[in-house]
Amino acid sequence: MRAVANNLILHLHPTRVPAPALRFTHTWGLGGISALLTVILVITGVLLMFRYDASVERAYASIQTLETVVPFGALLRNVHHWSANLLVITVLLHLVRVFLTGGFFRDRRGNWIFGLFLLLIVLAFNFTGYLLPWDQLAFWAITVGTGLLDYVPVVGVLVANFLLGGREVGQAALRNFYALHVAVLPVVLMLALSYHFWRVRKDGGVALPDQTGPIEKLTTIPHLVGIELGIALVTLTAVMLFAMLVPAPLEAMANPAHPPNPAKAAWYFLGVQELLLHMHPLAALTLSAIGLLGLAAVPFWDRDDSAIGIGGRSARGRKAAWLGVALSLLLTPLLVVIDEWWLDLPALLPGLPTLVSNGLIPLGLTLAGLAGIYWLIRLALRTRHNEALVGLFSFTMNALVVLTLIGIFFRGPNMALVWPW
Ligand code: HEM
Repeated sequence: MRAVANNLILHLHPTRVPAPALRFTHTWGLGGISALLTVILVITGVLLMFRYDASVERAYASIQTLETVVPFGALLRNVHHWSANLLVITVLLHLVRVFLTGGFFRDRRGNWIFGLFLLLIVLAFNFTGYLLPWDQLAFWAITVGTGLLDYVPVVGVLVANFLLGGREVGQAALRNFYALHVAVLPVVLMLALSYHFWRVRKDGGVALPDQTGPIEKLTTIPHLVGIELGIALVTLTAVMLFAMLVPAPLEAMANPAHPPNPAKAAWYFLGVQELLLHMHPLAALTLSAIGLLGLAAVPFWDRDDSAIGIGGRSARGRKAAWLGVALSLLLTPLLVVIDEWWLDLPALLPGLPTLVSNGLIPLGLTLAGLAGIYWLIRLALRTRHNEALVGLFSFTMNALVVLTLIGIFFRGPNMALVWPW
């Protein structure tokens, strides 16, 4: 048994690893935690399949039976639900860690871009799973989400039709989402993760600062495996405790005739939904696409690999990161409030089509604002290009968090701003 376990571990890891790679702050354990959550999701997902029924008449009832009749059924669903939500968070934090430690330099460039594909798969998993309970929350979040596709030029309507199996969220959509969730995406994720892990090994493990002398190496067993087991135990305990204490939400059965007010997207898309309240859907989607392309372009944008493995590139880079966070904490809510209560571009520019007054202009202003943030950080802290990029990245990621929090807590009926307390 022990020989089998050792063999498996040494297929995943080299026999010896550089001692600095074992430092917790180099990884925060986030890649490993994401991998563990994926395993938990596969196991609990397969068990859920024994009871779940992908039909609009029976899906909701099958979840109710699972929660009330099947022994440990509610716990099973809670573990699956919360692990899926946690995975979105840990994968995003892993992305932030890889960026901040310069994990995209040199040979790791390809794995960084491939990682973005992994992020999209994780989001697709969550999105397709969201519909399955067939309650009000599920039905309307997917209606809002897929409605957005209509604004994507050329392919949007085709993709929406393919996903929904028609124009509306109904039986065909449920069947398609289920097929994607339990058959297509798991295969894609497993293949993609195998490639991701293989690349991490081939590229020499996690990014570490360049060393002049010889690097001390330690055996994987027990040094690395001991740390991994510790992190796995803490993660498992946290997920189990959370799942035992907090039930996964289940609202009334889906009713296509009665939209809830407000009808919100799933929380990880609330940042985009918040953008939609401030600009034309095409502009909001273009801004999101530019953000994703910007992330993919990071290895080409920052070519100064002398700072590889150093958190934030330098002490000044770390200052730039904090300045970026502080600026976005201040500016994001301020701009949301100004646009909500005072600024009405279509009314100010009545002669222009709304695609320009409410689309091109706010999009251009946002991009100009981001360029302004870059230069502000560069000049205020006298940073180099790569350090200012750290500031811009921190600004943008934190703005996404703030927009999401506004969407979760500060949007009420008709998506108007409300004070939650
Ligand atoms: C389900 C999703 C993912 C899983 C399970 C995963 C897992 C891992 C693991 C276990 C490592 C080894 C180091 C560590 O533990 O942190 C790693 C490294 C790496 N990951 Fe991921 N990852 C995922 C998504 C992503 C995403 C979204 C990105 C970036 C866009 C990314 C980019 C990288 C890169 C470039 C490395 C190597 C560089 C370094 O670690 O310093 N990964 N990943």
